[in-house]
Amino acid sequence: KLGGGPTGALAGKHMLVTAGPTHEPIDPVRYIANRSSGKQGFAIAAAAARMGARVTLVAGPVTLPTPPGVTRVDVESAREMAAAVAAALPADVAVMVAAVADWRVATEAGQKLKKDGSGAVPPLHLTENPDILARLGASPERPRLLVGFAAETENVVTHAKAKLARKGADWIVANDVSGDVMGGHLNAVHIVRAEGVESLPEMPKDAVAAALVERIADALS
Ligand code: CTP
Ligand code: CA
Repeated sequence: KLGGGPTGALAGKHMLVTAGPTHEPIDPVRYIANRSSGKQGFAIAAAAARMGARVTLVAGPVTLPTPPGVTRVDVESAREMAAAVAAALPADVAVMVAAVADWRVATEAGQKLKKDGSGAVPPLHLTENPDILARLGASPERPRLLVGFAAETENVVTHAKAKLARKGADWIVANDVSGDVMGGHLNAVHIVRAEGVESLPEMPKDAVAAALVERIADALS
């Protein structure tokens, strides 16, 4: 469409999306990470932009191109992601797809850790990262619709229901990551709401994104 403002079911809405892993520094050359590729979150941002939303995509370290029409903010660590999310508010809807590292090293070493020749290993004392979704759920700036993701390897729906309550989210999109979902092209998700669970068949991540964004547009209309 040339000329005029954005059209589409999400025109005039601001969607905030987090995607990808976070990297938690150990020292200047090492970090803790996870297998998230960012594909599902980027697909959601792309689908929302196609439906006319203004989209802010807060992305951890991934190797994906920025979807057309999306404003991207790159971050490394969970704490940087939390700050970028706060700075992007207000939003009508937030979809928290990022695989945020649960723990970071309590004190990042200023210099590269070295072997001391004795075979002794450095102790890595971990501390918990801020829960970005739970903070948003309890915030005065809480988006009208707050959607979390849940990566589970067992009891997928049961765990997702617990997260719905714990995080103050409206929906949790649960996916079983026991197979090769992380990094892969396909995903099978269960959309868990207080009212019930909708299970979608396994499909490409782009199709999961389109289905989810359609439901988001319905919920916001
Ligand atoms: N999340 C977040 N900040 C964190 C951890 C998780 O915003 N520090 C968000 C994720 O982006 C996702 C949801 O919370 O939308 C659930 O993440 P998940 O890792 O499945 O849940 P946790 O609460 O971390 O529980 P656990 O990893 O122990 O299953
Ligand atoms: Ca986690």
